[in-house]
Amino acid sequence: MTFKEISSVQCPDDFEELAEKVLPPEVFAYLKGGSGRGRTAQANQDAFLAWDLLPSLLSTALSSEILSSTVKGNVGVTLCGVRFCSPILLAPLAHQALYHAEGELAVAKAAAASSAGMVLSQWSSSGLGGVASILNNQSAAQSLLTSSPLLTQMYFMNSEAHNLSLIESFHSSGSQAIVLTLDAAIQQPSLDAMRAGFVMPKHWSNSHLMAGAVGVPQIEWLMKNTHLPVWVKGVLSAKDAVLLKQIGVQGLVVSNHGGRTVDGVPAALKQLPAIRHAVGPNYPLLFDSGIRSGYDVFKAIALGANGVLVGRLQAYALAAGGALGVGYLLKILNQELKAAMQLCACKTLADINPDCLQSVHILER
Ligand code: FNR
Repeated sequence: MTFKEISSVQCPDDFEELAEKVLPPEVFAYLKGGSGRGRTAQANQDAFLAWDLLPSLLSTALSSEILSSTVKGNVGVTLCGVRFCSPILLAPLAHQALYHAEGELAVAKAAAASSAGMVLSQWSSSGLGGVASILNNQSAAQSLLTSSPLLTQMYFMNSEAHNLSLIESFHSSGSQAIVLTLDAAIQQPSLDAMRAGFVMPKHWSNSHLMAGAVGVPQIEWLMKNTHLPVWVKGVLSAKDAVLLKQIGVQGLVVSNHGGRTVDGVPAALKQLPAIRHAVGPNYPLLFDSGIRSGYDVFKAIALGANGVLVGRLQAYALAAGGALGVGYLLKILNQELKAAMQLCACKTLADINPDCLQSVHILER
């Protein structure tokens, strides 16, 4: 992708169109699709339409302080002791060489150039070492204020030795947290991807994943065997959230895997307010599933998230423009978030709250 083509991108959705042009149809269908008929994947995006931003006109117009603080980029957040320059992180996505020859290395370059946090999938096409050296070199060369933290995503495997060697590799890579994904024990394929002829390559076998659901004993075992903060990804119920908090998990990712596990589970955004209410105001919560703009990021934060992970948008931008594409995506998302903050008179992320939104259905009562 050239600079000229990049300048044709006006909003994050444009990357989806560009990706559709460059990817083989079956790969695009696999990437875009949700499990089964894709109803949960669609519901994830629709859930954002149920909320409008509520401008705070007078304070926006009056406060040049708000304008200058958000323009200067006052959107940093510290979670489990890790400083992020922006609440917008790159989600773990498996096998990114499918979308671009440089795969996760290109994503890491974009994260390093944009001071963005990156969560690397356990099933990455590029090795952990290469990705870590791009992110760690950048962070070492710059200050904490421009660092790009690496977090590593893990599935629980059925052999203790395998799990220990994964943990060891995370420790030696300089990973700053382990994100344990719990919601992928069942992954119904997408009907659209199957109709388009997408076939899982044989070497993508999940056969070493722990059979059956991972439970409290495995999570406790993981926490005992690492000094890193452990996040659990894939939480959709307040009951699970409370239990995970009680056993000492340091943070949660409210997510339904982008609607890619079982079709018919609720939109992740719908679950977020109840989960925030259940875990209390200070417990770290990330959110993903359905984010398609910086305005969506603002809404997720208003409804209780401390930060978000961006999944498909990342892969669309990677397919369209490699590192340049992902870097430009992050730039637009951050600009849109800051525009929403200015509109609603929020100087920092902590100022974003439920009163900044209005339910679309309010007039229908
Ligand atoms: C994923 N996701 C995912 N999650 C995870 O924990 N480990 C993984 O390896 C993958 N792989 C993966 C591949 C592809 C192609 C997609 C689209 C998603 C889920 C991902 O981290 C995230 O939860 C969702 O993508 C968020 O939804 P959006 O942003 O895609 O709507």
